[in-house]
Amino acid sequence: MLIKELTREELQPEKFIAEKIQEIRAIVGSGSAINALSGGVDSSTVTMLAHRALGERLKTYFIDNGLMRQDEPQRIASLFKTLGVPVEIVDARKQFFDALKGLIDPEAKREAITQTFYKAVFGRLVKASGAKYLLQGTNYTDVEETVAGIKRQHNILEQLGIDTLQAFGYTVIEPLIQLRKPAIRAVAHALGLPEEIYARPPFPGPALAARVLGEVTPERVEVVRKATRIVEEELQRTRAFQYLAILHEDKVTGMRGGRRDYGLQVEVRCWESEDAQTGSPTRLPYEVLERLADRITTEVPGVVSVTYNITKKPPSTIEAV
Ligand code: XMP
Repeated sequence: MLIKELTREELQPEKFIAEKIQEIRAIVGSGSAINALSGGVDSSTVTMLAHRALGERLKTYFIDNGLMRQDEPQRIASLFKTLGVPVEIVDARKQFFDALKGLIDPEAKREAITQTFYKAVFGRLVKASGAKYLLQGTNYTDVEETVAGIKRQHNILEQLGIDTLQAFGYTVIEPLIQLRKPAIRAVAHALGLPEEIYARPPFPGPALAARVLGEVTPERVEVVRKATRIVEEELQRTRAFQYLAILHEDKVTGMRGGRRDYGLQVEVRCWESEDAQTGSPTRLPYEVLERLADRITTEVPGVVSVTYNITKKPPSTIEAV
């Protein structure tokens, strides 16, 4: 791999920020750039860095792909507004669900999200705005896993030989590509982002689609969205690296009100990890697991089974898709 990692120990956040601001200004020149904010640590950090570098010449969009957590687009857009960064929400829900229709293979789903994001949605925004550059928060772990062929991270393009200028009509700038999560959190903190952003558990680019086995439909995403809210409420205090809910493809026989109920299965994962490269399941107290099962089966319509994953990464990965 040609990119050299800059470790948390080597990183000097203020120096890094000053260098990246200079680099972004040098590349963009007198032109303009756009970026997509998802509210995760990486995209939030890039948004702040690029805002410092370019000011009004940066246009930040929140792409509502229909796969986000509950109320996330509005919440993140208003938080950044308070930080002085205007964010425009783009409703692209239909485009993403149309592209995902009928797909069940994990890599095919990831590819559909990549194409919709970069070609359909951003291609149009770039044309409309006249920007020649897209800034994004690709990190060192994303590159490593994609190049190793483990999982195609949705934001990896150049390292797979994709010429973005030719394919999509713009150049991609990736200021965080040498950093892993702990280093990015340090940069986010130094940039003055609030703790709810810099200490946020990671969230995947393909969003809740990474947690739906089988076809990704608005109805199936809604099941994961409701389960995710419960899992996040219950497990936030564990301060684990990441916690998530996954909807399985198979149904199982359950019972409700004394009658057979052939229903959905939700799997809960909660990870201890440093940087997502390896991980192990958190030893959650049994009462917490029981509360999760009770809440998910009563508050999420159609769910009759809740399981807790006890596998390490590897051989598991953190997300299911
Ligand atoms: P996996 O599932 O590969 O996840 O063990 C490792 C870490 O990366 C996140 N993740 C992604 N992040 N685009 C991203 O930006 C993606 O396509 C993607 N897939 C997984 C995951 O949540 C975990 O923190």
